[in-house]
Amino acid sequence: MRAVKIKQFGGVEGLEVVEIDEPIAVADRVRVRVHTAALNRADLLQRRGRYPAPLGYPTDIPGLEFAGEVDQVGDEVSRWKIGERVFGITGGGAQAEYIVVPESTLAEIPDNLDWIEAGAIPEAFITAHDALFTQGTLQMGERVLIHAVGSGVGLAAMQLARATGAIVFGTTRTEEKLNRAKELGLHDGIVVKDPNEIVEAVDQLTSGHGVNVILDLVGGAYLSANLRALAKNGRMILVGTVAGASGELDYGLVMRKRLMLIGTVLRSRSIEQKAYATLQFASHVIPLLKSGVVKPIIDAVYPIEEIVEAHKHLESNRNFGKIVIKVKA
Ligand SMILES: NC(=O)c1ccc[n+]([C@@H]2O[C@H](COP(=O)([O-])OP(=O)(O)OC[C@H]3O[C@@H](n4cnc5c(N)ncnc54)[C@H](OP(=O)(O)O)[C@@H]3O)[C@@H](O)[C@H]2O)c1
Repeated sequence: MRAVKIKQFGGVEGLEVVEIDEPIAVADRVRVRVHTAALNRADLLQRRGRYPAPLGYPTDIPGLEFAGEVDQVGDEVSRWKIGERVFGITGGGAQAEYIVVPESTLAEIPDNLDWIEAGAIPEAFITAHDALFTQGTLQMGERVLIHAVGSGVGLAAMQLARATGAIVFGTTRTEEKLNRAKELGLHDGIVVKDPNEIVEAVDQLTSGHGVNVILDLVGGAYLSANLRALAKNGRMILVGTVAGASGELDYGLVMRKRLMLIGTVLRSRSIEQKAYATLQFASHVIPLLKSGVVKPIIDAVYPIEEIVEAHKHLESNRNFGKIVIKVKA
């Protein structure tokens, strides 16, 4: 089968599409014929040799999400039949024509979604749902701030938060992304030139009340601003660190405001934990995808042969939403 392979850590020249053996499904495993598999920041880091695959996943075949057809089932599989349309997250190996995964980590693709749309969903929507609701306990009527709101995860989070009746604010570094996010339902937002500006802007947007929840996809110097922008009993969920992996933490502020700081990753979670997050997604998000209340936002689609171009595109920060890799021609 064809698969994206990291032949050498570093720049995009280390990527290649190669022929490798097809995996086989045994026991509770399902083999999926992958149609689409979107690109993630983690793939860029893995390519650079800075984010090794968790134990049990291929070290050199990237890909954290996929959409495809059930193609082979192990003898303990009870939930899935050959030909069913499924999608899900995995710890690696999804940018290949076939992937073998535990049956518990799959969800059924609603009929109204095509392969491109389905491939853009699992990582963004499972991450966003898990972070905002399972961990951040976002409630109707609360104010939420989503950093890098024009990202894949950011746009999924924005739609889910809005659908649940929260008041949704977002940040981005570009005016254009802010305007596009507003067209999709963002209540208001901030074009950030300097993270320190966030506090005053949030103050104005919330009439001095602050935000109840911050979904931080950026990290770095945003930490200090986050603590100041949060209301009492606020929750900050750290999902990404594109701006740096450390920041300044004011203990006094955390204590006085009784804040909760939560960090999260999906990739290294156990199969059981991935299955749980997928089940929550299937129960709460798939009905919204079915009815069109939320939808995947797709920036670009690349055939697997153009994986290098896809990496360059994501690396440029130009994308608004997801970059999808078409694996099946
Ligand atoms: N923890 C997990 O399980 C998990 C799962 C999925 C994703 N993530 C993380 O979540 C984040 C979003 O992922 P994604 O795939 O949705 O991202 P994405 O679509 O690639 O978007 C990332 C955006 O971050 C902004 N950005 C980049 N560098 C920045 C900087 N130095 N300062 C401020 N903003 C910057 C850019 O938007 P602007 O142009 O608007 O600034 C960029 O488009 C990433 O950090 C990713 O690693 C984590």
